Amino acid sequence: MLTGKRIVLGVTGGIAAYKAVELSRRLVDAGAHVVPVMTAGAEHFLGRTTLSALASEPVQTDLWHNPTTAIPHTKLGQEADLIIVAPATARVIAAYRMGLSTDLLTNTLLATRAPVMICPAMHTEMWEHPSVAENIAVLRARGVHVVDPDSGRLAGGDVGAGRLADPERIVAEALTVLGPGDLAGVRVVVSAGGTREPIDAVRVIANRSSGKQGYAIAAEAAARGASVTLVSTVELPSPHGTHVVAVETAAEMQEAMTALAGDHDVVVMAAAVADFRPTDAAGGKLKKRDGVPEITLEATPDILAGLGAAKRPGQVLVGFAAETADLLANATAKLESKHLDLVVANDVGAPGVGFAHDTNAVTLLRPGAEPVEIDLASKRDVARAVINSVVDIRRGTSP
Ligand code: CTP
Repeated sequence: MLTGKRIVLGVTGGIAAYKAVELSRRLVDAGAHVVPVMTAGAEHFLGRTTLSALASEPVQTDLWHNPTTAIPHTKLGQEADLIIVAPATARVIAAYRMGLSTDLLTNTLLATRAPVMICPAMHTEMWEHPSVAENIAVLRARGVHVVDPDSGRLAGGDVGAGRLADPERIVAEALTVLGPGDLAGVRVVVSAGGTREPIDAVRVIANRSSGKQGYAIAAEAAARGASVTLVSTVELPSPHGTHVVAVETAAEMQEAMTALAGDHDVVVMAAAVADFRPTDAAGGKLKKRDGVPEITLEATPDILAGLGAAKRPGQVLVGFAAETADLLANATAKLESKHLDLVVANDVGAPGVGFAHDTNAVTLLRPGAEPVEIDLASKRDVARAVINSVVDIRRGTSP
């Protein structure tokens, strides 16, 4: 977890500079405060506005004309918890090795005691040049963390080693450099998405759940060091460090969650599980010529209630409550009847909240505690609040 960490993101002049925008977004999503610094070369490849918009503050480029301080490099260097240079060109790598301070970024690199991560990106010939290889070896020997480039397509259509490491890998390395998270060694299983119950061979009863909130919780838990299993009905990209088990129906989800809950410390039921399913799904396709079908429904098992009944001592069980009326009363009833440690309640009728949105607004309920309201925020921010609460429950602290 990078919450509260101040990361200076140095971007230098290579074609991969555009990927720094994605990297910045991911670092911010992981909770970091990202301070972007661009070299003059980087400005040939990337607009300041773009990076400023996805970092935590505006881009800085200038050593000399800073309106807030006469010594921006020492302030940047001293306040940083980590400096990441991505992409790092051969020039900046050489300057850093030599101790040359020609611009704001190279000055900052010399003015810090924080750990430094260098993520080189250049053509294969340059990456394999003895001078670059030697500079990298010296920096490594000094304790600089070098994230080796990937092999793949490079600018101009060439293929080889030198492509900037995937932003996801860079974030994972940053997490390693900054130490274990508060869920290190904890096993977490999260269900996500809406179940689909077959009517016949082609039709299903489904719901509007996108799975985004469950995925955000899985990503947050993994970023904070947990080993995470996602039981999912949707095909979103799997968050780094999570293992995905694909399911479709309530029965499949029940089987997977019940089996997994036994050896997981934290169980989060974020999925929207169908409460009813067709009693007898037709094996083939129902034909129009046979008239309007009568579909009889039966109740599905309440997975969460079953997990609550079988809860092990010390296990933390988190449920959701999707409501359109009487939010607190209904959510409190679910907290009690399903033996939960935490309920994440949302008013799915409110604008920007719940199904299919990228934002959510929730109320966190714990037994015997005052409700905690999380105002409209990104699903990742909501995930952070949920995981903070899980950590508090594990530590035995009150909200
Ligand atoms: N849930 C479950 N199995 C079901 C239905 C719901 O495990 N068959 C879980 C959901 O994953 C969620 C919680 O129970 O964590 C509450 O789901 P919700 O749909 O809000 O409520 P229900 O329990 O289905 O009750 P109601 O439909 O009356 O609101």
